[in-house]
Formats: sequence, structure tokens, C-alpha cells
Amino acid sequence: MRRITVALAGLGTVGSGVIHLLQDQADLIARRADVAFDIIAVAARDPKKQRSFNIPQALWFADARDLVDTQADIIVELIGGADGIAFDLARKTLLSGKPLVTANKAMLAKHGSDLAMWSRKGNVQIFCEASVAGGLPVIKVLREGLSANSVTHVRGILNGTCNYILTTMMREQRQFDDVLAEAQAKGYAEADPSFDIDGWDTAHKLSLLTAFAFDTVPQLSGIGVKGIRHLTLSDLNDAKQKGGVIKLIAQSAKDPHGNITQIVEPLFLDSASPLAQIDGVLNAVEINTSHAGPIFIQGRGAGAQATASAVVADLIDFAMGRGVPFLKGRP
Ligand SMILES: NC(=O)c1ccc[n+]([C@@H]2O[C@H](COP(=O)([O-])OP(=O)(O)OC[C@H]3O[C@@H](n4cnc5c(N)ncnc54)[C@H](OP(=O)(O)O)[C@@H]3O)[C@@H](O)[C@H]2O)c1
Repeated sequence: MRRITVALAGLGTVGSGVIHLLQDQADLIARRADVAFDIIAVAARDPKKQRSFNIPQALWFADARDLVDTQADIIVELIGGADGIAFDLARKTLLSGKPLVTANKAMLAKHGSDLAMWSRKGNVQIFCEASVAGGLPVIKVLREGLSANSVTHVRGILNGTCNYILTTMMREQRQFDDVLAEAQAKGYAEADPSFDIDGWDTAHKLSLLTAFAFDTVPQLSGIGVKGIRHLTLSDLNDAKQKGGVIKLIAQSAKDPHGNITQIVEPLFLDSASPLAQIDGVLNAVEINTSHAGPIFIQGRGAGAQATASAVVADLIDFAMGRGVPFLKGRP
């Protein structure tokens, strides 16, 4: 059996999920892929923090960027943030000729073009399945399963926090602020929820879906973004009276002239439509394709286990020599 050495930066929700998944599924991974993953180096902000796993002290690095200088075959970035240490680490990884796994949609949305250039120049891969819709293998579906199709339209529910708030407002007939406060108390929403509820988290993910669907590079600046902060219970009840629901929808489309539009906004959906059925923290994506017809996938868009599932699938792809170029196109 082959052994692949891994350096892991970020040991929070997703990073700890990856450590547990690699332990729990080691036998299955060995059977399926004939490979074992050894975590040989880690970094996080606070080495003294209580963790749900044991990592020998000797494997800890004070500076995540130093992980690149270890013997690791592949670097996994699970710190987050568009810039700063995560971006420094990603750049150093690619420029040193090592492959990168990341779940960092903010960084990919902002710096996708540069990262793609370094990845192409060094002939090293960027794996990023976890960056959009957590456990849903939507990037794989778009880039691999549908690679013989042209895509005309992608739309989806990409933020579990917003979907949870809208679903709960309607089901329990409560106002936005009340449900948001409860979501924060339960850990479904951040202490500063603006990134989610104002639509920007969704916009980051949409920019990546658009790039993969239409062979371009992520273009955040062109997205019209409207969140759910202004929605009231009576808006949702009015929608129900008209036979539908309101969801925060991300959509991008390419017209016959090649023009691409991207928009994130609360939309009225007929209750019979598949996206209208997606409740709570779930995510879903609809893809309209030239030959395979409409495709619909749904599932857990966030959380330790679902997101770790995508990260470890990326590691297995690397081990098996699978994978496609990160981005093919031009702006
Ligand atoms: N959570 C999800 O469900 C989910 C889903 C899809 C994608 N993602 C993406 O996955 C990434 C990680 O998210 P997360 O939810 O796991 O975040 P998180 O729980 O906040 O964990 C972040 C980790 O990064 C570490 N860190 C922060 N600053 C650092 C620094 N300067 N040097 C080294 N380590 C540092 C933290 O260290 P400490 O532990 O010491 O604080 C922590 O271990 C993000 O890009 C996020 O967008 C998350």
C-alpha cells in the first residue's frame, strides 16, 4: 500500500473533521484506493487549545507557511479568509510545486485567477471540492461528470444559514431577528452574520460555480448581490398565499452570445419546483445542460463531516492520480 504524507493547516470545524474522517475511514480508503494518508505536520492559531483528537507535539508548526518546507506530498489549507496566512500558504505551496487542497471559497473567488496561473505554471493541482456546497460533489459533477455538455444555467441554494432562517421563519411563524438570534445561539449562524445574510458567502460560491460551469475565472465584482436581511414574515406568508416560497437563490446563466450573468437574491419559487423543497440547512444545485438535461443535487452544504468528506475525496483523487485543471478559461 502507498503512503501519502499530508500537512494540514487549520484544525477547526473542517480540519478536525478531516482528522476524524481519515481515522474512521482508514480501512475503507485503503481497500478502495490502496493508499494510507499520514498527517506529518499541522498548524493552527492556538496550539494550547483543547482539541477532539491527539496530534503529537512534534508535528506542530507555529507558522502554517512552514508546512510547505516539510516532506509532505500535499498541503491542505483549512484556515479560511481571502487573504493573509491562507493565501500566503496557497501561493507558497503552488510556487514550490506541491499540490494544494483547499475549502476556501473566499480565497478562490478573489484570487482564483492568480492561483490558476501558478498551478498551470508549476503543473501542480488545486483541489477544491469542499469550497462550494460542502459535502455535495457539485464541482466534480460540473467539471467531470458533465464535461461533454455545455451548461446554460446553474442555480442553487448555497447558504445553509439563510435557508435555515427562512425555513424556520415560515414554519414557526417568527420574525427574522428572532430566528437569527436563535440560529446564532445554536451555532448555525456566526456572531457576525452579515457575510451570510447579506448574500456574500453565496456570491463567493456562485462565482466558483460560474467559473466551472462556463470555463471562465471567478468574477465576484460582476455579481448583483441582495441578501435576506430585509425579508419579513409577511413577505414569506404572501409568497405562500401565491403558491410558493421565498429562498435565497444564486444563479448564473450564459446567453447565446456568450454573455454571462450572475445574481444572488431572494426569489419567489413555485412550491412544486425542486429548489422550493429544500429546507433547513440543506444546499441544492440545479444545472441545465445541453445533453444530459437538467441535473439536481442536494445535501449537506456545511458541517465538519460533510465538508471533510469533500476534502478527503480530494486527497483520494490526488492519490489516484485523478483530477482536472483548476480553471480552464479566461475572464
Ligand atoms: N465550516 C464549514 O462547514 C465549511 C464548509 C465549507 C467550507 N468551509 C471552509 O473551510 C475553511 C475552514 O473553515 P472552518 O469552519 O473549519 O473554520 P474554523 O472552524 O474557524 O477553523 C479555522 C482554523 O484555522 C486556524 N487558524 C486561524 N488563523 C490561523 C493562523 N494565522 N495560522 C494557522 N492557523 C490559523 C484556527 O486555529 P485555532 O483552532 O487555534 O483557532 C482553526 O483551527 C474556510 O475556508 C471555510 O470557508 C467551511
